Amino acid sequence: MGPIDLFTPIHLGPYTLANRMVMAPLTRNRAGAGNVPHGLNALYYAQRATAGLIVSEATQVSPQGVGYPHTPGIHGAEQVAGWQDVTGAVHHAGGRIFLQLWHVGRISHPSLQPGGALPVAPSAIRPAGEAITYQGMLPFVTPRALETGELPGIVDDYRRAAVHALAAGFDGVEVHAANGYLLDQFLRDGSNRRTDAYGGSLANRARLLMEVVDAVTGVWGPERVGVRISPVNPFNDMHDSDPQGLFEFVAGALSALGIAYLHGVEGAIGGVARQTVDLGRIRAAFGGLYMANGGYDKARAGRALASGAADLVSFGVPFLANPDLVARFRADAPLNTPDAATFYGGGAEGYTDYPTLEQARAAG
Ligand SMILES: Cc1cc2nc3c(=O)[nH]c(=O)nc-3n(C[C@H](O)[C@H](O)[C@H](O)COP(=O)(O)O)c2cc1C
Repeated sequence: MGPIDLFTPIHLGPYTLANRMVMAPLTRNRAGAGNVPHGLNALYYAQRATAGLIVSEATQVSPQGVGYPHTPGIHGAEQVAGWQDVTGAVHHAGGRIFLQLWHVGRISHPSLQPGGALPVAPSAIRPAGEAITYQGMLPFVTPRALETGELPGIVDDYRRAAVHALAAGFDGVEVHAANGYLLDQFLRDGSNRRTDAYGGSLANRARLLMEVVDAVTGVWGPERVGVRISPVNPFNDMHDSDPQGLFEFVAGALSALGIAYLHGVEGAIGGVARQTVDLGRIRAAFGGLYMANGGYDKARAGRALASGAADLVSFGVPFLANPDLVARFRADAPLNTPDAATFYGGGAEGYTDYPTLEQARAAG
């Protein structure tokens, strides 16, 4: 056996993944009416089924969890049926897919909320920037701080969504605790100024995440649950006074729950990280499988796996633009150029029409 590389199979929970290349979660704003996935979404995911594992786009656990137009949910029966088509297509193509569970918290707008309500958050702190709504870009509003008594209801929303994900035929779930959405808003002290049992100390700020993960593992078993974190990503106006201490604590607490993997968004996405952390120490505090993400190419991913810095690597934009990324990496073939103008929203263009290597060659 040679050194571990991207094409070395790996055991993840009850599964043997064919390779260590994971398709990172990618919001594409192409769900149908009622935030229901449909046939085009099934085709898109099935095209990418040679990934060792697909993590779906972020998917709302409740109507309150919605923060963007045309993003899918997993709280209604029609949505479950839509996702069944997606998981069926991925499985038919030989792939595996986890659902990413999402509540956006303050990264929303009253026009996206049931009854035009204020978005909710740990604290009434308005993020800098603008919400993306059906009416275009609108300034973020000051969110409503959740009452302590409402938090069990949020945990229940995640539990119910996990049950729905099981019914929809997924292979597991990933709890989205990254990128400035609700669970991350509770973790980091730039957005959490609570004085109850969910704010202040590290244990208090991590409490909602741990309750959510506990609820979700109660449905799936810990071996089919992953968690995504982004310790220094400033996206969505996020910061923390001590990301190293916070995320080492979170990693240790998640380790005790025995989950399948920890998914780390390294550095900043779409910007510059103003802080740094020692990922090795965060990873050591977790001890289980670590999935690295953020600007990896074949060479850098290979080095991370060979050195043991990561067990799996997820690729976002590379999988978006290359349905056959695994075959292209194997062959050291050139990659398609991603078209940023079609990342968010639209139809088949820039979604299901990126050619495979064979198609590109046939087209000359
Ligand atoms: C179009 C687009 C949509 C994204 N949507 C999500 C998402 O739904 N959930 C999430 O955790 N990260 C999301 N991300 C972040 C990616 O998963 C990933 O962290 C980022 O693209 C960096 O990885 P890469 O350099 O391999 O693309 C998104 C990124 C892009 C470009």
